[in-house]
Amino acid sequence: SSLQEIIKASSYIGRDDEFANDIDWNNLGFGLTPTDYMYIMKCGRDDEFKQGQLNRYGNIELSPSAGVLNYGQGLFEGTKAYRGEDKRLFLFRPQQNAIRMQIGAQRMCMPSPSTEQFVDALKKTVLANRRWIPPPGKGSLYVRPLLIGSGPILGLAPASEYTFLVFASPVGNYFKDGTAPLNLYVEDEFHRSTRGGAGDVKSITNYAPVLKSLSRARNRGFSDVLYLDSVHKRYIEEVSSCNVFILKRNVLSTPATNGTILEGITRNSIIEIARDLAFQVEERPIPVEELLDADEVFCTGTAVGIAPVGSITYKGNRIEYKTSNQLVCLRLYSRLVGIQRGIIEDKMGWMIEI
Ligand code: COI
Repeated sequence: SSLQEIIKASSYIGRDDEFANDIDWNNLGFGLTPTDYMYIMKCGRDDEFKQGQLNRYGNIELSPSAGVLNYGQGLFEGTKAYRGEDKRLFLFRPQQNAIRMQIGAQRMCMPSPSTEQFVDALKKTVLANRRWIPPPGKGSLYVRPLLIGSGPILGLAPASEYTFLVFASPVGNYFKDGTAPLNLYVEDEFHRSTRGGAGDVKSITNYAPVLKSLSRARNRGFSDVLYLDSVHKRYIEEVSSCNVFILKRNVLSTPATNGTILEGITRNSIIEIARDLAFQVEERPIPVEELLDADEVFCTGTAVGIAPVGSITYKGNRIEYKTSNQLVCLRLYSRLVGIQRGIIEDKMGWMIEI
């Protein structure tokens, strides 16, 4: 019965060498591979999330007048689960996602799960889907928490009921060319976010509006788009799905998070790793002209990891960057990946064992 299945899922102790077998672990991209279970927890008018549960992964029922469908009241998160040494399973900094969701929920007038409820839901989802966590070195299990206004509404107002949902999918490289350096296009018509807007929270409404620039750039052969601030149209902000860094000598700079930029968890982790490796790190406004004499440019994100940038095209001029396996960004990335795979000591306590 489905109840027995759910009980089995919550205490899933399949054979340790048990992996899903209907998947090619050597060719994981960032497409959706549906897994076995999802976690669902609801909250009514009392603003308290009640005990959630694992369900078989599948479609959900929503009222046509759900707040999220009509007025975009929704947030998403992203983190990854890894297999470590000794068959142990880990999540990377899930508390940071919980906190970011709580901050976003305040901005979007939604109640949010406590950090404990959030992390517990992620652990249960990963455990139940553990056969979908790729073998070490092949990728990770991407975990996608959602918080949506699921209650019906007609006039513009916060929804009366909220649903927190977590699903997961095994993933490899985000970009279709694998780890090849990115060719970015600086968007000078559209902006991703504005001052006083909600660009700093992971609102679902921040992502559909970038699709137009993104598809236009992809059709012209670029990997992604680099956005400029909407006031001066001069300072770099972020890429559609990741943050951006530039390196000049020993100084690593990234746009300051002033309300228009997403506070990436990989961004913050790279700042800490870089400081630990004695780089000087600056969070500040970065004028687009600085791209001209940067030694390296790279992107960071949960989905993306770290992606070196090979070229940036701005107003018809293409700036090229050196590419080699000696790049500083790759050194930073191997630190991060080493921690995530349990190969390098986790001094900061970032990995949460499941
Ligand atoms: C992530 O990096 O986890 C994100 O949420 C970005 C998304 C557009 C894939």
